Amino acid sequence: MTDTAAATADTGPDAGPDSGSVIVTRGLTKRYRGGQSAVDGLDLAVPSGSVFGFLGPNGSGKTTTIRMLMGLIAPTSGTAHVLGRPMPAASRSVLPQVGALIEGPALYGFLTGRGNLVRFDSADPAADPRTRRTRVENALERVGLGAAAGKKARTYSLGMKQRLGLAAALLQPRRLLVLDEPTNGLDPQGMREIRSLVRELAAEGTTVFLSSHLLDEIEQVCTHAAVMARGRLLVQGPVAALAAGARGRLTVTTPDPVDAARILAEHGATGLVTDGDRVSADAPPGGVEPADLNAALVRGGVRVRAFGIERASLEDAFVALTGEGFDVAG
Ligand SMILES: Nc1ncnc2c1ncn2[C@@H]1O[C@H](COP(=O)(O)OP(=O)(O)OP(=O)(O)O)[C@@H](O)[C@H]1O
Ligand SMILES: [Mg+2]
Repeated sequence: MTDTAAATADTGPDAGPDSGSVIVTRGLTKRYRGGQSAVDGLDLAVPSGSVFGFLGPNGSGKTTTIRMLMGLIAPTSGTAHVLGRPMPAASRSVLPQVGALIEGPALYGFLTGRGNLVRFDSADPAADPRTRRTRVENALERVGLGAAAGKKARTYSLGMKQRLGLAAALLQPRRLLVLDEPTNGLDPQGMREIRSLVRELAAEGTTVFLSSHLLDEIEQVCTHAAVMARGRLLVQGPVAALAAGARGRLTVTTPDPVDAARILAEHGATGLVTDGDRVSADAPPGGVEPADLNAALVRGGVRVRAFGIERASLEDAFVALTGEGFDVAG
């Protein structure tokens, strides 16, 4: 690294309380000219080795955040550290260690897919020309573009362009991959391929930070997630903990719905909804066993035909947090 000398002691890669994090932001804020805050006071910590999902509906500030992390735009206020170094100040030493795919990758339409990668690789002063061919072929293979590598990039579909952008990010081994909506424009099979590629990269030790507006996708591939809405961070943490934060719904099917609702309420269940012979409710907090609720119903003379509890999903957690629905993959 050429500019290590410029680093102060407390911004070294292993310094500070967030030394286990590859991305740390404090109060990160971006206000575009004449607009509201696109990103507002963001405190993000992305653990090393995680597959971190950056989740939020359209316009919630994901791309703006990623542009600040990559030093492409300056924050209005707040700080961002990537691999322990401040951005955008340390762009020159940080960016070579980061593979990035940001909205609408810049491609040369008149070159083939392969030609684009050769061009990108040639622009990297650290890339050995003697091994260029191998790097390019491997990257094409990894993103499933082997067969289409000889076609001009301007004839590529959105999904193929997205794959080519990803291949460019994979030319070199990286400590961190930052992928803005990597499955945008891909069909379900393509999405599955990218998900398994992300898992593979993570298994090789690369931290992957990916944005998505698809809950389903985050739940399938990410170990950690942060949820954004209107520029603000709602919550972040391990995916399992986020989903567990939303309590499941329990459903009772019975010819005695009035008694069932009364008894469930007496045992602390809230959000009761009666619909014909089905009574549903939020499971009570504080570890009340579903089996005990069922027993209470039976003791109270309720004829229970079916009793079930749905596991809470990340989507439930999101809806509970925002009171809003969410786009779902499919
Ligand atoms: N260059 C810009 N100038 C002014 N406003 C902008 C600019 N770029 C983004 N915005 C605004 O900032 C907000 C956040 O946009 P951003 O692109 O970061 O959202 P996003 O979460 O990436 O959305 P999507 O899921 O649609 O990609 C939006 O209200 C958007 O209109
Ligand atoms: Mg975006």
